[in-house]
Amino acid sequence: MPSQATPAHPFRRILLVGFMGSGKSTVGPLLAEALGWEFKDADRVVETVEGRGIAQIFTDDGEAEFRRVEHRVTMELLREDDLVVASGGGWPCREQRMEAIGDDTLSIWLRVGPERSLERVQAERHRRPLLDVDDPLAVIDELLADREPYYSRARWSVDTDRHSPLEIVRRVLEHLRTEPERPLHT
Ligand code: S3P
Repeated sequence: MPSQATPAHPFRRILLVGFMGSGKSTVGPLLAEALGWEFKDADRVVETVEGRGIAQIFTDDGEAEFRRVEHRVTMELLREDDLVVASGGGWPCREQRMEAIGDDTLSIWLRVGPERSLERVQAERHRRPLLDVDDPLAVIDELLADREPYYSRARWSVDTDRHSPLEIVRRVLEHLRTEPERPLHT
């Protein structure tokens, strides 16, 4: 994919939001490479800062502590330029999170249905404590219903059930090039 080191659009960074298994950490690096930008996954930054995995943070200190670190890390990432950031699936889902994102950040919601989400996270469920349960599909259904109103505040959205990661990158780049001020929903 051709690199576009000096893209003609108003954004200094892109924030990918969406549920677990929506493809944030697959699409993110591809998009970053195509833009000549860096990619950072907020979950991985949290793990580096904390020196332990997310499941371990949940076990040792509880979800509330994870959410505090996650928020601090995400806000720091949102101050960096030329960066594609994948937020954790739960980060956008509090009041004033999506609203606090500045105009120079392009937020993109990667939409995913419950079955596809489970299919994609199945092998790595132990890394996602919320889904490491007997009936993950029931949890996914419930969380998705609660969270979609928050994710839907993203400026653009892309259906990852219908489009492959490369197709998503192609569409995003094309839209950035042609009419970045107009919302993309595809
Ligand atoms: C979570 C999603 C995970 C991770 C943590 C909690 C959530 O990130 O932050 O397990 O609440 O949806 P991914 O969306 O990158 O899997």
